Amino acid sequence: MVKIHDVAVIIGSLRKDSINRKVANSLIDLAPSSVKLSVIEIGQLPLYNQDGDSNPPAAWTSFRERVKAADAVLFVTPEHNRSVPAAMKNALDIGSRPYGHSVWNSKPGAVVSASPSAIGGFGANHHLRQSLVFLNVPTMQQPEAYIGGADKLFDQDGKLANAVTRDFLQKFMQAFASWIVVNTKS
Ligand code: FNR
Repeated sequence: MVKIHDVAVIIGSLRKDSINRKVANSLIDLAPSSVKLSVIEIGQLPLYNQDGDSNPPAAWTSFRERVKAADAVLFVTPEHNRSVPAAMKNALDIGSRPYGHSVWNSKPGAVVSASPSAIGGFGANHHLRQSLVFLNVPTMQQPEAYIGGADKLFDQDGKLANAVTRDFLQKFMQAFASWIVVNTKS
């Protein structure tokens, strides 16, 4: 029987009408049946503080447990000031500690960035990749996904209304599903 891989989706925007959430929803819709995606919310996480390692807030613990249970992680992020939004970095930091107990270790990952700008959040995408190298997340290199002009891709119901982007995101998810299989330790 083919294993269905559980993929945690982490969205770097907390905004109600977030473009990146729409991109994430599209990726969920377009994913092949060998992966099951669900969003892990990060907006409720208190700011990481190392003093909390000995007595962590409940929100940190449930976040860590949820990531740990996942087979893979898909990051979908805006760019804030040419880098990763604070909420996304906070989630990375929380998952990385206490020292020696990182929930990211060895988990296959992929990064999608989206922005109204033409360069599609390239800076955030690569700053995130820098952290993922340190966190030992084997992160899919190709295809890269910098979704530019992303504010123009969705209809009034938040549905993807661009055939070229739909085709690209579908291929991206097929590649990620294969990446997960290749990078999962049996
Ligand atoms: C931005 N935005 C932005 N866009 C970009 O392409 N590069 C950047 O460096 C920044 N910097 C930035 C900083 C801050 C604090 C904000 C609030 C916004 C614009 C950003 O791409 C736009 O607001 C997107 O709509 C954010 O994505 P969501 O929230 O719609 O998913």
